[in-house]
Amino acid sequence: MKSLEELEKIREQAKDLINLRKDNENKTRIVVGMGTCGISAGARQVLLAILDEIKKRNLNDVIVTETGCIGLCKFEPLIDVIKPGQPKVTYVNLDAEKARQIVAKHIVNNQIIEDWVIPNI
Ligand code: FES
Repeated sequence: MKSLEELEKIREQAKDLINLRKDNENKTRIVVGMGTCGISAGARQVLLAILDEIKKRNLNDVIVTETGCIGLCKFEPLIDVIKPGQPKVTYVNLDAEKARQIVAKHIVNNQIIEDWVIPNI
């Protein structure tokens, strides 16, 4: 049996987690494919360029995460951009410069760069 104090602590922690999740729902997420083929195709430079742009532009409402292989070797490096309330957009065959432009155009100005998007995955 846990003490009341312990239970209160658990409740507080759960509340924090839920708030965190709610917070994240309002943020833009950028997911970078960092599987083996992604990395060998230059995903690390793409990730660093994205982080650098976000820092330079002081974008506090953007979360960057990494994912492993998603089975699309020939399209690497690739990223998903998920804006709150909008469908996921997957950009493929990126490099650092394209990644910077995606931050400027899609993340900041809400303009999808259609030429680099792969549909329906
Ligand atoms: S390592 Fe390339 S698709 Fe999985």
